Amino acid sequence: MNVLILGVDGYLGWPLAQWLAAAGHTVCGVDNFLRRKAVQEMGSISAIPIADWADRASAFEACYSRPITFYETSLLDYERLVAILGEMVPDAIVHLGEIPSAAYSMRDAEHAALTQHNNVIGSLNLLWAMRAACPDAHLLKLGTMGEYGTPNIAIPEGFFEVEFRGRKDILPFPRQAGSIYHLSKVHDSHNALFAAKTWGLRITDVMQGVVYGTRTDRTPPDERFATRLDFDECFGTAINRFVCQAVIDCPLTIYGSGSQTRGFLPLSDSLRCLELALLNPPNRGEYRVFNQFEYTYSISALADVVKQEATALGMPAQIEHLANPRSECEEHFYQPDREHLVRLGYEPHDHLTQVVRGMLEDVRVHRSRIEPYAQNMRPSIQWS
Ligand SMILES: NC(=O)c1ccc[n+]([C@@H]2O[C@H](COP(=O)([O-])OP(=O)(O)OC[C@H]3O[C@@H](n4cnc5c(N)ncnc54)[C@H](O)[C@@H]3O)[C@@H](O)[C@H]2O)c1
Repeated sequence: MNVLILGVDGYLGWPLAQWLAAAGHTVCGVDNFLRRKAVQEMGSISAIPIADWADRASAFEACYSRPITFYETSLLDYERLVAILGEMVPDAIVHLGEIPSAAYSMRDAEHAALTQHNNVIGSLNLLWAMRAACPDAHLLKLGTMGEYGTPNIAIPEGFFEVEFRGRKDILPFPRQAGSIYHLSKVHDSHNALFAAKTWGLRITDVMQGVVYGTRTDRTPPDERFATRLDFDECFGTAINRFVCQAVIDCPLTIYGSGSQTRGFLPLSDSLRCLELALLNPPNRGEYRVFNQFEYTYSISALADVVKQEATALGMPAQIEHLANPRSECEEHFYQPDREHLVRLGYEPHDHLTQVVRGMLEDVRVHRSRIEPYAQNMRPSIQWS
């Protein structure tokens, strides 16, 4: 399969390129290095050093005996996008090329607009470019479980049956996003559904949980294949922050009570699920939604696992509760479905403890690199 990865230089994109190449697929990619610049803008770094693109590309060619075709461009450049799709005629496009941070989008008006413009217009350009250049390709688009928010009922996969005044219909499940970033993904989902229905595009919209981990079953043993691991308040997920805090002997900082519950999955599972979706494409005109996570955990449960594993590795950790800078429900019901990928062959197992231990091992060798940035892990951006 000929797969184009948009956002190939990112946390998921780079290991996905390796994962698909190892399975024999032809991979090419697009990126504008926005993530590298945004983390720099936060005055931060990736805890694990990452190679620049030229080194990544030469490692790829040496390992897989074929080059990775790469285009440095923004999805905001519509003409360039159409030309790339026309040149490549991909069988599938994995769209990861967005700004993925809730906190970054809540910094101020400028960052809110930047996030929505980049994400919504980039994705809209992609839909139009596919219509023009490769209408038969499968678009595998990354959304987020955060699109749904935390409703007081179970969360189906994208659609549910509603009965209202004696009539029934299957309708999109309500989206109640909790940040400007999450709203950008909601807008994307609406545009994608429209494009499938109107232009006959085939689209899988993946509502993905939070991904964690530093390596996959298919990561070659060469540091140029390492993917990034951020810990700053915008681009560091809670697990990443806890791991880095444990390594530099700072308390693990929980926002609020820590009862907030979300879906999580290891990096390997994320890539395995994306591969399953690629191998089982939807029909022309079909827009389908997959909820993608392994298990749900509360933030406190995550902190406890990091504390336990860090202690076992000789890094005793403390937990500190901070006033929650986010406007979010802390005590809530949370019961999302995830059956579609299981039906395609995904077998969820609880890997949290094992993967967290691997993260601690991979990060602790970079302790002195992370220490000067300890303050970057404390929240300063207020939601309200
Ligand atoms: N990592 C997670 O835990 C997670 C969870 C749920 C959903 N997602 C979604 O998955 C996708 C990828 O996430 P990630 O963690 O790999 O993020 P990332 O920031 O590491 O990767 C995104 C890549 O896209 C590039 N990019 C951004 N805007 C672009 C543009 N306009 N043109 C070209 N390239 C652009 C960035 O430079 C970056 O390399 C995002 O859409 C994110 O919302 C991620």
